[in-house]
Amino acid sequence: MYYPDELVEEVRTKNDIVDVISGYVKIQKKGSNYFGLCPFHNERSPSFSVSGTKQMYYCFGCGAGGNVFTFLMEYENYSFQEAVKFLADRAGVKLPEGEYSQEAKARDSQRAELLKVNKEAARYFYYQLRGKTGEAGYRYLRGRELSDETIHKFGLGFANVTSNDLIRYLKNKGYGDKLLKEAGLVNYDEKNGMYDKFWNRVMFPIQDGNNRVIGFGGRVMGDGKPKYLNSPETMIFEKSRNLYGLNFARSSRAGNFILCEGYMDVIAMHQAGFTQAVASLGTAFTEGQANLIRRFAQEVILAYDSDGAGVNAALRAIGILKEMGLTGKVLNLEPYKDPDEFIKNKGPEAFEERIRQAENSFFFELRMLEKNYDLGDPEAKTRFHREIARKLCGFSEEVERENYIEAVAQKYHIGFENLRRLVRTYALENGMAAPAQRPKSGIRPKKDPAENRRKPQKLLLTWLVEEPPLYRKIKKYISPEDFTEELYRKAAERLFEDLDKDILNPAGIISLFADEEEQREAAGLFNTKLMELSTQAEKERAFHDILMAVKRSSLEALRERVGTDVSAFGQMIRSKKELEELSKTHISLD
Ligand code: CTP
Ligand code: MN
Repeated sequence: MYYPDELVEEVRTKNDIVDVISGYVKIQKKGSNYFGLCPFHNERSPSFSVSGTKQMYYCFGCGAGGNVFTFLMEYENYSFQEAVKFLADRAGVKLPEGEYSQEAKARDSQRAELLKVNKEAARYFYYQLRGKTGEAGYRYLRGRELSDETIHKFGLGFANVTSNDLIRYLKNKGYGDKLLKEAGLVNYDEKNGMYDKFWNRVMFPIQDGNNRVIGFGGRVMGDGKPKYLNSPETMIFEKSRNLYGLNFARSSRAGNFILCEGYMDVIAMHQAGFTQAVASLGTAFTEGQANLIRRFAQEVILAYDSDGAGVNAALRAIGILKEMGLTGKVLNLEPYKDPDEFIKNKGPEAFEERIRQAENSFFFELRMLEKNYDLGDPEAKTRFHREIARKLCGFSEEVERENYIEAVAQKYHIGFENLRRLVRTYALENGMAAPAQRPKSGIRPKKDPAENRRKPQKLLLTWLVEEPPLYRKIKKYISPEDFTEELYRKAAERLFEDLDKDILNPAGIISLFADEEEQREAAGLFNTKLMELSTQAEKERAFHDILMAVKRSSLEALRERVGTDVSAFGQMIRSKKELEELSKTHISLD
């Protein structure tokens, strides 16, 4: 954080979160909070809540949450600095220029410069495409059945055959060699000096979720090699965290995302009305990209090429989707190679029909697996069935597993009970029935078993924020050190410090964390869903259970530490005493 904390706080307190968010999302008062449809994922009933007292927002569906800064960072893709600046302007707070650290300033201006030069290059390519030297490119794109409107919408352009005209153009505009190199727009060698990286290619500017050009893909005219050339990774172009087409797909209301391999595929689908299509950027699909999608949709339809490489890529993507708690389906494009060709030959209605028929990703996996076995041979068939059983063990939720066992048994003509037994045997042999981690509900996956340890800690923090007077009653037993996670401890430290002074300011605590993911997680700490309990006795009991669980896991962590850290010993003894005392104490919630 480069602005002083007090100033950041001033800006935050002068921008009421309910006011700010109402400017972007339709929210309605319900009880003490406001509710609306979450702008960060697709949903039909409102689970996005904004609290005026906490000055925070939180979505119970996708876990998005934070304070007013976080909201703008997520919604507008602002950096923390940008969000502070925007809200300072909004509230008429003057930000001192000099408070900015030198390093931060350099980094921010470097990013801004890179964005600027990319934008300028995109503009140059765009005009080239429309001029004499770009005729070949324009003809090529029209030949691929793109309308003028589509070409314009995606800002397509052309890098002509001259190999230093972009350099000349940009230098004329005042951009220096160093920046051109850093932006990956030029190549350099001893013999030739600097020359344009892209030439004789139609150019696809790659935009981030907020329409800023962060890189380029260029397709060669005709059959040259390589077919596609992409910008290298730069400070603003992180391939594993961006998706081509996201700037449009994010506002599609389709309820799913279509994931494909190519720029042309995305564009062809958008032109045909499938504005939920995105592609990874010349690299394999990543967790970071799944995370991005998760903010907008729960279901991903894979529209990868129907060749061997495409199938392998799809299988890999399915694994990632599963891990991230997203539902996957696979589109059959046969007899065509990719979505672009399919739509060209069959049209949008047929494509829509294929979307409706998209195959459940688990069945797709089985169908691909089946190809490795000769099912005429009982030996191989048995091995295939065992493999199916092994995969079925991947469903940790019983109902889901049973449903799949039933469906698979029917599809592959295996006796239901037989298959069930096989699954059980397999599960027993391998210790646990649930190797894969899938979310039980909602779309946030449980990342690891440590989540069980964290859950009560989150509940406790939320409870304290909801009912601050409780703090006085528990401070004897619980201290920030009892929070086993670094981030939780930091949040608890500040919360306890505040509560000691009778201050309640959870939204201010969020700003302690500079990183957007951390802010989101911190917001989650104060917004965990407390169970609905009717009687006072039930509530007291639940609260007591939570305190005990927190204390127990803290003790457990101390025990682990004692082995390597003698100083933890004294703390462990103290903690044990506190736990004993707590177990005998009744804490009333009045
Ligand atoms: N790609 C790449 N480098 C290559 C080939 C492909 O980066 N040499 C990436 C590009 O992002 C491309 C995607 O992989 O969009 C899919 O490749 P391919 O299936 O070959 O592209 P198509 O979109 O089918 O290309 P076209 O229709 O233009 O022939
Ligand atoms: Mn193609």
